[in-house]
Amino acid sequence: MNHEGMSTSEWIEVLEAMEEVAPYYDRVNQLITLGLADRWRAEVASRADKNDVVLELGSGPGSFARHLGNQTVYCLEPSDRLLKASRESLDGGKISLIRGVGESVPLTDDSVDKVFCSFSFRDFRNRSFGTSEMFRVLREGGQALIADVAKPPPGPMAKLLQMHMRFVVPALARVAVHPAARAAWKNDPYRKFVDTYEAFGFTTVYEDLLRRQGFVDVSTEFLTMRGATLTRGNKPWKSTSSS
Ligand SMILES: C[S@@+](CC[C@H](N)C(=O)[O-])C[C@H]1O[C@@H](n2cnc3c(N)ncnc32)[C@H](O)[C@@H]1O
Repeated sequence: MNHEGMSTSEWIEVLEAMEEVAPYYDRVNQLITLGLADRWRAEVASRADKNDVVLELGSGPGSFARHLGNQTVYCLEPSDRLLKASRESLDGGKISLIRGVGESVPLTDDSVDKVFCSFSFRDFRNRSFGTSEMFRVLREGGQALIADVAKPPPGPMAKLLQMHMRFVVPALARVAVHPAARAAWKNDPYRKFVDTYEAFGFTTVYEDLLRRQGFVDVSTEFLTMRGATLTRGNKPWKSTSSS
């Protein structure tokens, strides 16, 4: 596992960890982010204009998609179990649930206005294929938006956050999960999330991946309380890309 992605067996472990925590996912996230997780999602979702056709890659149990008010929303998710959970919690009338991976999106070229990855991009097996697919399905002028947990550059702040992820997060998660469910875990799934956090590099990696695909105006900003980041890039209009 590194900043570019992971092996198939590592990816399957990440997926299994996510499926294991699914019933507790939102509760644990709120706890470990001191209630900020949903605020970040709402902040990111507000970047979609009302009439945008929206695609979310890695929609999990629907925790981000439920903040979207758009008429046309596609939620793509590789796990059947998580898709089923989101079917129960999302408005099926306007949201189309698709089983698949962000590295191979079953939508036509130039068909969506915004692609969101809400805390899912670091779970991709191959991030370069992921950004290539984002570029392909976006219309000219469309935007890719990738939200993830903040990762400060090496230094005391980074050390502090690393300690939080390594020790506080798994401990808090244990408090929020029913003991019977915990007893059934093969491994602690929250350790897997620490692995993906440590491996994903920095937002500069995300920015480079977007630029390499041809995205322009690539930038990263902090979300509330600087605990998460949002990296964005625009698919250029043809006239500007050739200039
Ligand atoms: C941490 S969850 C994020 C769920 C939701 N987007 C949110 O805001 O909470 C990451 C999701 O990405 C999914 N995922 C993993 N690999 C993926 C891939 N290659 N393509 C798309 N989604 C993937 C996982 O199954 C999981 O549901």
